[in-house]
Amino acid sequence: EKAGYRHFMQKEINEQPRALIDTIRGKYSLESGDVFFDLSKDLKESLKDITRIVIVACGTSWHAGLVGKFYIEKFARIPVEVDIASEYRYRDLIADEKLLFIAISQSGETADTLSAMRMVKKMGAKVISICNVVGSSIARESHSVIYTHAGPEIGVASTKAFTTQVASLFLFAMYLGRQRETMSAGESREFLKELVGIPDKLEHVLRLDGEIEDLAKKYKDASDFLYLGRNVNYPIALEGALKLKEISYIHAEGYPAGEMKHGPIALIDSELPVFVIAVKGSVYDKTASNVEEVKARDGIVIAIVTEGDTELAGKADHIIEVPDVPEELSVFLTVTATQIFAYHCANLLGLDVDQPRNLAKSVTVE
Ligand code: M6R
Repeated sequence: EKAGYRHFMQKEINEQPRALIDTIRGKYSLESGDVFFDLSKDLKESLKDITRIVIVACGTSWHAGLVGKFYIEKFARIPVEVDIASEYRYRDLIADEKLLFIAISQSGETADTLSAMRMVKKMGAKVISICNVVGSSIARESHSVIYTHAGPEIGVASTKAFTTQVASLFLFAMYLGRQRETMSAGESREFLKELVGIPDKLEHVLRLDGEIEDLAKKYKDASDFLYLGRNVNYPIALEGALKLKEISYIHAEGYPAGEMKHGPIALIDSELPVFVIAVKGSVYDKTASNVEEVKARDGIVIAIVTEGDTELAGKADHIIEVPDVPEELSVFLTVTATQIFAYHCANLLGLDVDQPRNLAKSVTVE
């Protein structure tokens, strides 16, 4: 059942190229640049009138939502708020028929996400869910569901569910962008072409397994880790840290790189490994200067960079090189590198990778 892999998590990390292909299949045309979703006619019409979007989820699914905000605001120019379900549901909610609420949940059974969804639905909001489990409560109760087609995810640490949620959000953002004409057909064709190329490039990252395992051997006994990223890779810093915490029990913090000087920089010393996600793109220079700040304080830098980056190769202690793709799509590659690292740390520490202590796959209590 693990198809030759030691753990479900390892199998699921390696299934991501296939899972992505299944998730995007049938949803786009490379010729026209159009994106298709199987939504009811009414919902399609009402999407034209929505003025804001709220994305609500927990844990890793919340991180996917944070990435989705970048896509929707960029492609469709609709303001997006992303919140944690257990926070959102206890606030004085502002919702009406002009609000599109997107619930993201692998299991479709997370209690807080389901409750938040029920509340805004009663207030008249349009509700779409992004779920992996077919027929789950959240899927059934939303006006429309986008399934992620990742296949069953058994490992408690979410991996392929995350990348397929992000792919769904990417396409949905393009769908809205095309509908509102904030995205041209030409631009859409370009992004689709790049998206279709991602599974292949992900295979390349999977082949870095041995290299990343060597890093895990070196640093698995560290007591703390910092993960830094900016822009679309800021949520990946959060996700990389969460993966490490939940399966290897090593304390890790994810931070937007620009916030480092507002506090966490005080933590840096020669014992602290810092993952810096510094792929090329709009914030490359800024993030590269964070690498220098960490090095100036003797921190250990593991930089995730774009292939061929000689500048950071000379500055960081270690580099993980991922293929060159548009910044928006780099998250698929950078997150996979962090998943592989967390997996090897937990495995080398002899921990129960698939069933970490204190955690359940589906959190149906509030
Ligand atoms: O099934 P859901 O996507 O609603 O689950 C949300 C979280 O419980 C889940 O992502 C959790 O954080 C994972 N253990 C992360 O790996």
